[in-house]
Amino acid sequence: MTTDAIGVFDSGVGGLAVLTEIRARLLNAALIYVADQAHAPYGERGLESVRARAFAISEYLIGEGATTVVVACNSASAAALHELRERFPTVSFVGMEPAVKPAAGATKRGMIGVLATEATFQGELFASVVDRHARGVSVIARACPGLAAAVEDGADVDDFVNRYTADVVDRGADTIVLGCTHYSFIADRIRAAAGDGVEVIDPASAVARQAARVRSDRDAAGTGTTRFLTTGDPRRFAAQIARLVGTTPKVDAVEIPDVRSGRIVVVRGDITTQPVDVIVNAANAHLAHGGGVAAAIARAGGPAVDDASRAWVAEHGPVPRGRAAITTAGAMAAGHVVHVVGPVFRDSPEDEPHLVDAVRAALDASAELGAASVAMPAISAGIYGYPPADACRVIAETADAWLRKGGTVREIRLVAFDEATAAHFDAAVLSLRSRTG
Ligand code: APR
Repeated sequence: MTTDAIGVFDSGVGGLAVLTEIRARLLNAALIYVADQAHAPYGERGLESVRARAFAISEYLIGEGATTVVVACNSASAAALHELRERFPTVSFVGMEPAVKPAAGATKRGMIGVLATEATFQGELFASVVDRHARGVSVIARACPGLAAAVEDGADVDDFVNRYTADVVDRGADTIVLGCTHYSFIADRIRAAAGDGVEVIDPASAVARQAARVRSDRDAAGTGTTRFLTTGDPRRFAAQIARLVGTTPKVDAVEIPDVRSGRIVVVRGDITTQPVDVIVNAANAHLAHGGGVAAAIARAGGPAVDDASRAWVAEHGPVPRGRAAITTAGAMAAGHVVHVVGPVFRDSPEDEPHLVDAVRAALDASAELGAASVAMPAISAGIYGYPPADACRVIAETADAWLRKGGTVREIRLVAFDEATAAHFDAAVLSLRSRTG
């Protein structure tokens, strides 16, 4: 096995530009490139799903001997860079952030355009880059659906390039940031479409410089090899490398399934008797445990649960959306109760994100407590009126996506009090398995 390698990954060919620049600076480094083409394009996946891929591929690269991982993909950097650094603290991660800083320095009219994928604009990274570096400069964020895929396929990009470039230039941008590594390969086309007087900034070399900086003192010890891997079709990837980079290396296929740190099980029964570290309560914001599962938990835990709940609200106020209140579990076997407030069902587009927030808040709080096992009821599916089949699906999907981020939780028990809810949880978990293997 290679040791002290540099792993580089992208959804496809975009990161090859970064890889080439890294090789030019580190002649001896052992490089491993993974193109996650079975899951491309990332830009049109949700953040959770891109994050899951970033975790799985990073874990794979680290297992193959990488000690530095270059996230040569803006969407994956936006979705996961911060969490990757937390999860693998001994590995150096180098990521892509849109080059707003140099662009803000370069613009004369105080107007810059950023071309990137939808996923990149959704992540917190973009907002924080703009916040930190775009002081006094206007930023036009232009999502470019279809463009990365066209570069990937070697399809005609002119229509896309003309449309997206004109959009930011017509609105006054005199500086354009390429916010997706795929666009490096068509930087000249974008320059031509933007016309004279517009500067186009391609961050590929800046990122390669950063990777080189991290590694330059160790370069002499490397093997100088480059391995190319794809989760898609190796022949197609080999042809793409030949087209874009002009070399014809050997390409291997690799399977990198999503990693889940734990499993989901469905249990029919009373949540208060579950032998777990954390019991999740479907509470109201005032932690007044009057009915449903909340009353059962308060009864089984004894007065300590009600007392701790009252104290929590006295200190913090009502439990807000997306937050959890942690109390003792009193006389129950569990260590803690984590109280979250699901949505009162209104048949509105906000119901689902609100329930997702409640489930995530419960699991994040459990993780903070170092819990290995968590029992969760069908939040909102009782008194709050969420249709049980839908609530069970949202809860199971959110728990599944959450487990893919890794962490200490080994088991999430979805606890159903009645037969019908158990059947809904079962169906939801089964459908997750059939989708993701
Ligand atoms: N164990 C497991 N599940 C239970 C239990 C129990 N002991 N008791 C009830 N449940 C199930 C219900 O059958 C339902 O499927 O928990 C699910 C959630 O129902 P509710 O407790 O009504 O929760 P919710 O719909 O989120 O309403 C919250 O109800 O009890 C009050 O204080 C709570 O005001 C808040 C509201």
